[in-house]
Amino acid sequence: MNEQILDNEAIMSDVNMPEVKGSLVYKCIGCGQVYDIYEFVYICLECGSLLKIHNTEFDQFKQIPAEKWKEIFDSRRNTLLPELSGVFRFHELILPVVTMQDIIYLGEAQTPIVRANPELSAWVGAPFSVKNDGLNPSASFKDRGMASAISFLNHVIRVKNLDNVLGICASTGDTSAAAALYLSYLPKSKVSAVVLLPQGKVTPQQLSQPLGSGARVIEMPGVFDDCMRIVEELAQKYNVFLLNSKNPVRILGQKSYAYEIAQQLGWDTTELVVVVPIGNAGNITAVMEGFVDLQSLGIIDELPCILGVQSHHADPVSRWHSTGDYVPVKVSPSVAQAAMIGDPVSFPKVRQLVSEYFDGRFFVVSVSESEIMEGMLTANRHGHVVCTQGGESVAGLKKALKNHVVLDTKRFVVDSTSHQLKFSSFQQMYFDDTFDSGYGIQTKDELKNKPILLEARATTIAQFLGLKKKD
Ligand SMILES: Cc1ncc(COP(=O)(O)O)c(C=O)c1O
Ligand SMILES: [Zn+2]
Repeated sequence: MNEQILDNEAIMSDVNMPEVKGSLVYKCIGCGQVYDIYEFVYICLECGSLLKIHNTEFDQFKQIPAEKWKEIFDSRRNTLLPELSGVFRFHELILPVVTMQDIIYLGEAQTPIVRANPELSAWVGAPFSVKNDGLNPSASFKDRGMASAISFLNHVIRVKNLDNVLGICASTGDTSAAAALYLSYLPKSKVSAVVLLPQGKVTPQQLSQPLGSGARVIEMPGVFDDCMRIVEELAQKYNVFLLNSKNPVRILGQKSYAYEIAQQLGWDTTELVVVVPIGNAGNITAVMEGFVDLQSLGIIDELPCILGVQSHHADPVSRWHSTGDYVPVKVSPSVAQAAMIGDPVSFPKVRQLVSEYFDGRFFVVSVSESEIMEGMLTANRHGHVVCTQGGESVAGLKKALKNHVVLDTKRFVVDSTSHQLKFSSFQQMYFDDTFDSGYGIQTKDELKNKPILLEARATTIAQFLGLKKKD
């Protein structure tokens, strides 16, 4: 269809087109064992550790000068070609084995970096910007990793001529929305979608998304960690395509968040701090890996600092960072519901990345539930549309500045991982003061708001507003 509405050949002559390059394998982060990329494996069959995708020919990329890479990526920035408009603008660094015909683009990525206004900056303690990944098609950053995973699945289905593939994930809400959306684009004869959700622990908006995309939605008692255990067992014992971030194909697309920040800052990452909420730790892993890629190709001179943020109701990574011991925690209710995870699956990758690349450049703060809500509501009263996890990031930056964890001389980009509207029920609970005591939230009247019903008469409204009549 794209060929019919766009003159691809003319466009392609202006763009640095991807040449399919590289040879990808899954590589165990524990014992180094490698696996064929065309097999559906998610953990090492030898030692049970997580897998990373490794391009055995990555060193060839290093022979290309950094200036050439920048020229390639910048030339694609304004392309009209849908295939290169999303995460695959960085095709070589994401999935070079996936050809143009296999790429699924539903409008993801290229999200804006929005500067905080002076009032909000003063409230937080330093000038900063929000890169809002709520402005993706399913309204969260998960679309980035889903674009890479589903394009890859599309590629494997074509190459291996597969039928009846079942795409499956456990979710705190947003992964299932993204998975259901992207899977629904593939032929029904080839693929179907199933998502597992913890009953009553996703917002009505999030639940409506996989239902609307036609996925089979299974609700289970328990929390996300319980759903995750079930899909892990299913992925181990049955023939399914796992769409959680444990599948490293997901991480590849999510790395584009880091590539885009660097590109949007003119490839200058000096003195940069990127603030990221942590749940299952897939996102922060991808962000760190993305910056490592750019540095290894000389595209950026310096790795940024990474500031992870967790709620004190689900903070195993924060505890590890301050004590040196990693111990899974039992979670308590959190408004940053998508990050309410007591034993993050990707923690081993975080630990490895920190020790290999981000030593001295990695910080984690933990914030209270009240601070998260105040972060969200205050940001949104100053021109933003951040979710509770975005509020968590804003609150984390405020706390890290106050406690001198990071210096106010740095440049800050704060990750809002989804859209305000997905979490509007928490906003409503704040306004109505109806939070269950388990959240431990103290509300502030100055942050509350509600509609006022008045009769439909201009004079009544003018009187209510105290308007002065024109002379
Ligand atoms: C909106 C939102 N923010 C943050 C997170 C946490 O990301 P991760 O689980 O990769 O750490 C999630 C994950 O579910 C999410 O949906
Ligand atoms: Zn292994």
